[in-house]
Amino acid sequence: MKIADLKIPGNILLAPMSNVTNLPFRLMCRKYGASLTYSEMISSNAVIYESAKSINRGISCEDERPLGIQIFGNSPEIMTKAALRIEQIYQPEIIDVNFGCPADLLTKNGCGSALLRSPDLIYEIVKELSDNLTTPVTAKIRILEDIDDTLKIAHLIESAGASAITVHGRTRQQQYSGKANHEYVRKIKQELSIPVIANGDILDEASAQHTLEYTGCDGIMIGRAAMGNPFLFKRIAHYLGTGELLEYNECSQRVADIREYYGLMEEYKLMHTVNIKAQAQWFTRGMRNGRHIRNSIAVAKNIDEILQSLEKMCKHAK
Ligand SMILES: Cc1cc2nc3c(=O)[nH]c(=O)nc-3n(C[C@H](O)[C@H](O)[C@H](O)COP(=O)(O)O)c2cc1C
Repeated sequence: MKIADLKIPGNILLAPMSNVTNLPFRLMCRKYGASLTYSEMISSNAVIYESAKSINRGISCEDERPLGIQIFGNSPEIMTKAALRIEQIYQPEIIDVNFGCPADLLTKNGCGSALLRSPDLIYEIVKELSDNLTTPVTAKIRILEDIDDTLKIAHLIESAGASAITVHGRTRQQQYSGKANHEYVRKIKQELSIPVIANGDILDEASAQHTLEYTGCDGIMIGRAAMGNPFLFKRIAHYLGTGELLEYNECSQRVADIREYYGLMEEYKLMHTVNIKAQAQWFTRGMRNGRHIRNSIAVAKNIDEILQSLEKMCKHAK
């Protein structure tokens, strides 16, 4: 897939997810085949005020290129200033704009999906960013109830100069409930010339292939299904490449992944930013023997105990 002049080595993307897609997790997704990864969303206002915590969300490394950094805000001027600052610090390959987050924290300030009610402002934001940055600008939206309103926004984003658009097939009101509407995504793909990336409910090999085929989109973006499961990218890439399901040992794969993840968290000195047990629960989601695993994580006193009990469980499962 190509976004502006940037060649992306594939078409399976990791979704930006606040408090989830930190650098170690993104690196693991990359290792397993994610073609492009994005930072967690960064507040433009916070960047302007030089908030270290917010700016640090853009930290990356050479192994993570190409890198997308996502910003949110509601003022074309402030967002452009913030994006220029981000360009200066991190030189990302892509700057993405969040027009999809339904969380009150953003929408009460007119950011994220609240902007979907103001198509003209969306246009201004994307235009101002595209005109002033050297980095390609992309946008991530949700759908609206009405297909024509949704198409109007998608067209405005394209004509304002965006280099690609990601569409999560749910409305703001749906939050994360119901099913993603890929019919709307397909219609957007049919009308736009820039790359369109389909997002929402891509859970496994079959849904990845179906979404690509049904929508005709240039790429797919995976969010929740990848939480604690970076290996999913390898499974999907393998299936799309060969038509065959990858054989692997679920239990030992998950344990190896959580071990590597903790190792990277330590290497990048990020351990203090996460709840270790909650992360362990993500990495073991969907494993057989779920209740037993959750209990052992709950009583573990530290990472070593978590890993030891998971390893023991794998041995018994053999
Ligand atoms: C915990 C969590 C955090 C998220 N944070 C962001 C974010 O920072 N920026 C964004 O554009 N979307 C964010 N999203 C939405 C996802 O990127 C994605 O659009 C959504 O989860 C639908 O895809 P999925 O069905 O594959 O999960 C978040 C979703 C979750 C579950």
